Amino acid sequence: MEEQIQGLRELIGKEDKFVNSKFISIASGKGGVGKTNFAVNFAYILANNFGKKVLLIDADIGMANVHILLNADLKKNIKKIIDGENIENLVMNIKGFDTLFGFSGIDSIAELEDFRIHKLIYQLNKISQKYDYIIIDNSPGIGEKVISFLRASNSSYIITTPEPTAIMDSYALIKSLYKLYRYSRFKIVVNMCKRKFEEKEVFNKLNFSANKFLNLNLELAGKISFSQNLEKCVKEKKLIAEVYPSDPYTIDLKNIASKEVGEPIKEKNNNFWEKVLTFLKQRV
Ligand SMILES: Nc1ncnc2c1ncn2[C@@H]1O[C@H](COP(=O)(O)OP(=O)(O)OP(=O)(O)O)[C@@H](O)[C@H]1O
Ligand SMILES: [Mg+2]
Repeated sequence: MEEQIQGLRELIGKEDKFVNSKFISIASGKGGVGKTNFAVNFAYILANNFGKKVLLIDADIGMANVHILLNADLKKNIKKIIDGENIENLVMNIKGFDTLFGFSGIDSIAELEDFRIHKLIYQLNKISQKYDYIIIDNSPGIGEKVISFLRASNSSYIITTPEPTAIMDSYALIKSLYKLYRYSRFKIVVNMCKRKFEEKEVFNKLNFSANKFLNLNLELAGKISFSQNLEKCVKEKKLIAEVYPSDPYTIDLKNIASKEVGEPIKEKNNNFWEKVLTFLKQRV
């Protein structure tokens, strides 16, 4: 078994020499803080407002729910790769970006043996190289698999809310990764903000602890406003970034994406001649 794993490691090493893809993990200490909604809408915005090639992976494998937000069924999912199906047949293109769904039920990734996980990673490595961004939606907490995804990522967006328990749990996640592995590529997102500058207060609390106890400086990626339209979209299985492009939630995500990409936001319908045509039509 060890030999097989070593063999796969060498194969991955060979194919992985010049990869420009950026791996972004979405994680949180506490559950239910808005990771999956962030991941799906962020993927949508990177693809549709910034023209990036994006792959979204649902790594919350035991409790997959990216497919629910995208209103798709789970026929094609990551488990099929482990069962031997080719990864290319399992990637779904929905709303301008590619997605690999997780699967729900007793067969969680935590129960997979190392060899199966390596097999999965080898297949994922094969396709990842054609994307600008690979967004990984994780399960909450500090599980072994989450830690591995985060450690390997170029950056990890840590989602918190202004709730003290969520802030404390975010700190615990950051502390574990930093103390154990000196991993520090965190970007803090404060979700469900209801007041002006609330994100600054939350971030300052988190950064104060990181400074004082870990000697670590954190980065604030941005805030996300509380949005009733988001709750509505979740219920109706619609994407807020698509149906409410001007909602504060969408605008906040666009600002975070713009920072990530290092480019100003491009609206989808920003072709000059298309606009002239629209305006001419409006006049008659
Ligand atoms: N900015 C927001 N405004 C209003 N409601 C929100 C916001 N963000 C998330 N929510 C609510 O929180 C719920 C949980 O969100 P989501 O499933 O994205 O969390 P999660 O962190 O992925 O959960 P889990 O830890 O279980 O994976 C959503 O269904 C939505 O109702
Ligand atoms: Mg989730």
